[in-house]
Amino acid sequence: MDIKTNKEELCTELEDLANLFGDNELQIEHEEIELEDRIINKFKVNGNGDYETSYECLNSLTPLAKKSLRKRQVKIALYDLLNKLTNKSLPWGSLTGVRPTKFARDLVESGQIKEYMVADTLEKTYRVSKEKARLTAMILKNQKCIIRNDNLVDLYVNIPICPTRCLYCSFISSELARVKDKVEMYIDCLLKEIAAVKKIVAKKAYIIRTIYIGGGTPSVLTAVELDRLLDILTFPVGEFTVECGRPDTITAEKLDVLKKHNVTRISVNPQTFCETTLKRIGRNHKNKQVLAAYTMALERGFKVNMDVIAGLPKEKLGIFKRTMQTLVDLAPENITVHTLSVKNGALLKNDTSDLSEKEVSKMVSHAQKLLLENGYKPYYMYRQKHQLGGLENVGYYRDDNVCIFNIDSMEETNSVIAVGAGAMSKRVFNNEKRIERQDNVKFVEDYIARIDEMIERKEKFFS
Ligand SMILES: C[S@@+](CC[C@H](N)C(=O)[O-])C[C@H]1O[C@@H](n2cnc3c(N)ncnc32)[C@H](O)[C@@H]1O
Ligand code: SF4
Repeated sequence: MDIKTNKEELCTELEDLANLFGDNELQIEHEEIELEDRIINKFKVNGNGDYETSYECLNSLTPLAKKSLRKRQVKIALYDLLNKLTNKSLPWGSLTGVRPTKFARDLVESGQIKEYMVADTLEKTYRVSKEKARLTAMILKNQKCIIRNDNLVDLYVNIPICPTRCLYCSFISSELARVKDKVEMYIDCLLKEIAAVKKIVAKKAYIIRTIYIGGGTPSVLTAVELDRLLDILTFPVGEFTVECGRPDTITAEKLDVLKKHNVTRISVNPQTFCETTLKRIGRNHKNKQVLAAYTMALERGFKVNMDVIAGLPKEKLGIFKRTMQTLVDLAPENITVHTLSVKNGALLKNDTSDLSEKEVSKMVSHAQKLLLENGYKPYYMYRQKHQLGGLENVGYYRDDNVCIFNIDSMEETNSVIAVGAGAMSKRVFNNEKRIERQDNVKFVEDYIARIDEMIERKEKFFS
């Protein structure tokens, strides 16, 4: 689909939405016309026929509110047009962003709607499907741990290193074999950056709310390396997570080190319990390794999250249902259900033709139904580009075990001090409704070479 507009600032939004309708021959021209207190959105399809909608846009709106209104309205108009032309509905209707729950929260917090109106508004105004509108409302209800306080910050440590590369992955992460001789230096630099963070925290009177060590695969580090890193992370927090994603990297010795340093939560990620698929996606673990790692984690009293992906190559609904049933039987505190997204940078690209959008959508709906029936509740959600069927990723919890870090970072309610290669720090100014971001260089080698510059930039960013 080819789409042109007379307003450059709307171009990305329009293209993102149009892409979700898939490849087709349509050529769309859009024109936005501003009148006194109304705005008209006019479309031409394949050079002819006018499709026109208009809405009220009061001059009293702030520039920011007006910009946001224009974006929302043009997407609704384009969605209705493409829905009519292609006869296709999208699960998230006219919404294109990464964070549908944040979008809904903003509507509530800005006083535009009451919380009980969330599902109805998403469905009727923004064309979101009933199922997804209800899911969003449920998640909002389950995010009661949000505390908007500019002094309450989360700490993120990035270990962008993995044992090998999974075929679907587009994260920037190096294979261990390639950076093995740099791991020690990488940890030295992390310790230096964290020491600088400690000074920032003291100076700004920040309180670290949660710590999250992610990646990559942090558990690819040896027990000794983990011990060195964790030794400096002495902030007293109630939630301390270490991603141990690849089950084949988890050992009793490493878990003992995590326990010694008060880690409370780890993830052990099966992705699927079909070993044929695991081989196909380049994850060389076996189911018995997931079970062994999980048992060791339970014995040490960790809370456990398990990730799965719906839509893995050649998996049909039946296989996915078996994976979900196994997960529910294991009953970890958290289960995160992702929908496959194949982006540039992944090795998979050409191997996805057998995946039907309908089948993936059934998988995601099945997961939600099964988890709700088994006492799990959804608590955070995000969308990525190129997700099959325009679907989403949803984190579930049982009992009271939400991961606060996941909520804070997806809802962007708290600042994040992020260290390591590829880490993105965020400053949230709640009163001004403003967020600033700053990233470190992406690759391990560059991070080591430029550590002093990274620290200087961080000190300035948080000053
Ligand atoms: C940031 S990754 C890190 C986790 C860890 N490295 C692992 O692979 O087990 C978090 C999760 O995102 C999901 N994920 C990664 N790549 C994905 C993709 N291309 N499409 C959908 N989900 C993906 C996986 O479920 C993964 O466990
Ligand atoms: S999916 Fe996880 S383990 Fe696999 S390459 Fe990506 S970050 Fe590494």
